[in-house]
Amino acid sequence: MSVTDQSPVAPDPGADPAQAALHDRIAADSLTTRRDYLRIVATVSGGLAVGGLAVAGGVLHRHGDSDGPPDAKRVAQVLAPGESVAFRFPGEDDRAVAVRLKDGTLVGYSAVCTHLACGVLWREDRGTEGELYCPCHEGVFDARTGEVTAGPPPRPLPKVLLVEEADGAVWAVATARSGESEEAAMCRQFADARPDLAARLGCPAAKSGPAERSERT
Ligand code: FES
Repeated sequence: MSVTDQSPVAPDPGADPAQAALHDRIAADSLTTRRDYLRIVATVSGGLAVGGLAVAGGVLHRHGDSDGPPDAKRVAQVLAPGESVAFRFPGEDDRAVAVRLKDGTLVGYSAVCTHLACGVLWREDRGTEGELYCPCHEGVFDARTGEVTAGPPPRPLPKVLLVEEADGAVWAVATARSGESEEAAMCRQFADARPDLAARLGCPAAKSGPAERSERT
């Protein structure tokens, strides 16, 4: 079944109010396709890793550093609590990982350490609910936020925006920069490629249409 054939997933009752409002806004629009839904209604938190070292910067720049939306990618048919899946996103050289925490929360991150670009591993056996662990220099990242909790990494892991379909399939849809909000990340990536959707999201650059913008020039 194609992604455009399925109805949107109901919002999590415990979801962040801003995210729930975003979901409602998109779900209420009958013109929004399933693919649009996948591309927009995402669980996201910001975090582009821009390491101080050139090697890290060279490797990491692709995570959240593009202004265009990447192609959505299905990364798992289903992801049960405690399970993880490694995948490549947004490019085939970009290592990433998705994790379903034990309470059902779905999180996604770049799997490239922000210290010296080693591979980050999901370790369910570490910490209170598992950790993202870099074996090179004992770097540790919080599983729920991607923040650094131990070791030399200078920045949190960049996050990968994930969505889940009604049948449980998990898709990676976008990335976010360090400190960038959910809506800001989506606006940045969709403003030019899909101005109609950006307008529905209330993106600042999309709030005024072409005619209105031309009146000001
Ligand atoms: Fe990950 Fe050094 S490369 S902690």
